[in-house]
Parts: sequence; structure tokens; C-alpha cells
Amino acid sequence: MKKICFIIAMQAEGQPLIEHFGMKQLPHCFGNLPMKAYQSQYKDIEISLILNGQDAQTGLDHIGCEAATLATHLAITNFHPDLLINAGTAGGFMKKGARIGDVYLSHKYIVFHDRRVSIGAWQKMGFGYYPCFDSDTIAKVCGYKQGICTTGSSLDLPEIDLQQMQKTEGEIKDMEAAAIAWVADLYRAPVLCIKSITDLVDSGRPTAEEFNENIHLAAQKVKEACFRIIDFFASQNKQI
Ligand code: ADE
Repeated sequence: MKKICFIIAMQAEGQPLIEHFGMKQLPHCFGNLPMKAYQSQYKDIEISLILNGQDAQTGLDHIGCEAATLATHLAITNFHPDLLINAGTAGGFMKKGARIGDVYLSHKYIVFHDRRVSIGAWQKMGFGYYPCFDSDTIAKVCGYKQGICTTGSSLDLPEIDLQQMQKTEGEIKDMEAAAIAWVADLYRAPVLCIKSITDLVDSGRPTAEEFNENIHLAAQKVKEACFRIIDFFASQNKQI
């Protein structure tokens, strides 16, 4: 694992990694697009990181599937990584054992939960079922949970999306992973998601309120997990 590229939606989530790995911004990398690229050499790994940048109208970070798709295309075509890591926050399910601040790694497959096309095989295509990097060893060695990442374009969880999630056993709810995994699959690039839980979608509390309360803790946890997992890959490289 000599080239790893992080894809991160929010500046606040990416900044600690940029500082920890001493990454420098690559100027004018993507023309007039808002995405920003950073890079450094850490141990024997070339680490790249793409941030989605900010929306010109609101000044807010570009979140969601559209920006994630474009960022992933840019990541793969510019940096040719051995592994893509999508790091960020997610909603979890209390009834499936999730707790605020838990770190989950993607496993089995990555799906969408809001692309309903109930016409034969289109239904399966709607879900996606994209492959992801086998996280079993890292989860065991580093002590992280694993879960099926499920992506949609909304923070809320209407009943119809919940029903879709039950069909795929999706349990880590975010707004980017499946879009990233789709592009990664087109290029046959492995993808691993590292997600920390900001809110419990079945807690009965408003998601936005829980998210705002816990974003700091979750950002801290996901950052620590990224450092640890990069060190894990570096130690594995030494053994080869
Ligand atoms: N990111 C953090 N919490 C989320 C949720 N509940 N849904 C989608 N994305 C999230």
C-alpha cells in the first residue's frame, strides 16, 4: 500500500489530517473546480487528500453524492491510489449497537438507500452493492466496528428510506460513500470508509440537533482512526 488518497467532504474533518501528515496544498490542481488537493510523504506512503471545497453561493462545504463523484474521479485520475479512503461522519442505529463517537469501517458492500427503481433488475442497480476493501484485519487489529455503509442525499430518514436500508442491512448512514464507491468500482480502485457516529437515527431526537452536539467528538475519533490505520498500513509495508 504505497499510495493512499483520502476523500473528505468537510474542511473541518480534513484539516487535522493535513496538519498531522504535514501535507502541502498542490496549487491549481483542478483548474476552476472547488476541490483542493494536498499531498505528503509519510513513512513509505504517498498520502494525497482531496477536499470538496466550498459552494460559491453559501460558502459551505460541498457535501453529498455529486461532489463526491467528481472528487473521486479527480482523485483516481490524478493520483492513481492503491487505496481510496473516505473518512467522515455518519448516522448509526442504537438498536444495532452503535454509540456516539464509535468508529466503523465499511465492509461487505456499499449501497444507496434513496434510489428506488422497482422495475426488475433496475432495483438492484439502484442499491448499487459496490465492493469495498476487506477491513476484517484492520478492524481486528485496531479494534474498530464494521458496518454496511448506506448513502442517500438527505440527513433525515423518512420511513421509505428506512425500509430500503432494511433490505440491504445498511447501518452506517452517510451522504457520500456509495457515490465514491461507484466511481472507484468503475476504475477497479479499492475503497475503504472510516466513519465516526455523530447521531443515532433511531434515538427519537432530531438528527440535526444530535449532529451539532457530537460533530466535535466524532471528528476527533475519525481523525485518530485515520492516523492509526495509516500507521497500520505503514507497518504492513515494512513486513513485505
Ligand atoms: N452524517 C452524519 N450523520 C448523518 C446522517 N444521519 N445521515 C446522513 N449523513 C450523516
